[in-house]
Amino acid sequence: MIITIDGPAGSGKSTAARHLAERLGLAYLDTGAMYRAVTLRALRQEVDLTDGDALTHCAAGAALSLRYDDGRLRVLLDGQDVSEAIRSVEVTDNSHYLASTPGVRDVLVALQRRAAGDLGDVVTEGRDQGSVVFPDATVKFFLVADPDVRARRRYDELRAKGQDVGFDAVRDAMAARDRRDAGRDVAPLVRPDGAIEVDTTGLSIEQVIDVLARHVEAAR
Ligand code: C5P
Repeated sequence: MIITIDGPAGSGKSTAARHLAERLGLAYLDTGAMYRAVTLRALRQEVDLTDGDALTHCAAGAALSLRYDDGRLRVLLDGQDVSEAIRSVEVTDNSHYLASTPGVRDVLVALQRRAAGDLGDVVTEGRDQGSVVFPDATVKFFLVADPDVRARRRYDELRAKGQDVGFDAVRDAMAARDRRDAGRDVAPLVRPDGAIEVDTTGLSIEQVIDVLARHVEAAR
């Protein structure tokens, strides 16, 4: 069984996917972490971010693995734990270079399909999971939320981690990222065919999980 959850930044995808997987006893795949990890690799290697071939080469050479310790995602890149490093503002703001490069997406899509095959039943989360990577998924969700609420969630998350950011800057950066994710030529953020749209604006995490779990139970 494959359950896909797509949606814009701050729509609650990651939290929903993690908790839904836990509740249903399924594995969980955070594909944004993959784009972040290869972005970090490109930044560290000072790859020209406008050179698609160089970015593809960089992504193809990455030794990338996702592990879960006590429900916490650990991302290993070239043997090093980069779980925290991939959440920096620099990585977030530069991820669009890698995400809009077709060769990079080919590398990561292959990795995602292989990971899902290895994991068996999985909840996978990103921007293109229901539209491109797993078009025949058992259940597809598309999460949305009011832009200010999404920005507030991301702002609270960053502040809780001790990052010194302002709300307006977070909201503007998020809007720019949404525009790029939805406007790119390759695998743009779209509501996948057949996806169930869930607006998480006024919902608690528990309520979101309840809604998703009900749909999954009905499809089982
Ligand atoms: O979900 P997260 O914010 O961690 O994703 C970081 C970036 O990676 C997104 O802004 C998007 O550009 C890219 N991404 C993507 N396709 C996915 C997951 C993430 O293009 N399946």
